[in-house]
Amino acid sequence: MKALILYSSRDGQTRSIASYIASKLQDTLGCDVIDLLQAENIDLSQYQQVLIGASVRYGHFHPVLEKFVKQHADQLNRMPSAFFSVNLTARKADKRSPQTNAYTRKFLLSSPWQPKQCVVFAGALRYPRYRWFDRVMIQFIMRMTGGETDTSKEVEYTDWHQVDRFTQEFGQIQYEK
Ligand SMILES: Cc1cc2nc3c(=O)[nH]c(=O)nc-3n(C[C@H](O)[C@H](O)[C@H](O)COP(=O)(O)O)c2cc1C
Repeated sequence: MKALILYSSRDGQTRSIASYIASKLQDTLGCDVIDLLQAENIDLSQYQQVLIGASVRYGHFHPVLEKFVKQHADQLNRMPSAFFSVNLTARKADKRSPQTNAYTRKFLLSSPWQPKQCVVFAGALRYPRYRWFDRVMIQFIMRMTGGETDTSKEVEYTDWHQVDRFTQEFGQIQYEK
C-alpha cells in the first residue's frame, strides 16, 4: 500500500513541499499527492499512512482542513499519520516547532485528529505575486516583525534540509506502530 499526502495551499508553497516529500518517498513507498479541496470522498483505507500539510493565511488554515479532519478523525487516528504546517512566522527558528508556532499549537489543541508526527516549515514570501491588498498587509506585518519589506522581492524561507529530515522520519513512521 502507498502513502497519501494531502495538502492545502493558496500560493503553491505547501504544494511544492508536498510534491518534494512525495518525490523523495516515491522509490521506497509510492505516494499519491492530492489537494485537500479534492479529497472529500477519499478512501483512506487504500493507504498505509497519511501526511497532511496546510498553510496559514491571516492567522488561519483553510477551512477545508478542519472539515476534512472532522470528517475522517476516527480513521486518521487509527493509521500512522503526520501533519505539517507552513507559515511565515516559522521563518524565525524559535517559532518553528509545534509548541512554539501558535497556529500549529492551536490546531493540535482543538483537533480531534492527533497526528503521530508534527512539524512546522517556514513558507515563502512572494510580494510580486500578491494582490495589492495582500501585498500591503504582508508588508505591514513584515515591518512589525522585522522581516523583508521590499515588495519587489521573492524570498523562500523553507529549509529544505529540515524537509529532508522530516521526510526520513515520516518514511519510518510505519515501523513505529
Ligand atoms: C495574504 C497572506 C496572508 C498570510 N498570513 C499569514 C499569517 O497570518 N501568518 C503567517 O505566519 N504567515 C502568513 N502568510 C504567509 C504564508 O503562510 C506563506 O506565504 C506560505 O508560504 C503560504 O503557503 P501556500 O503558498 O502553500 O499557501 C500569509 C501570506 C499571504 C499571501
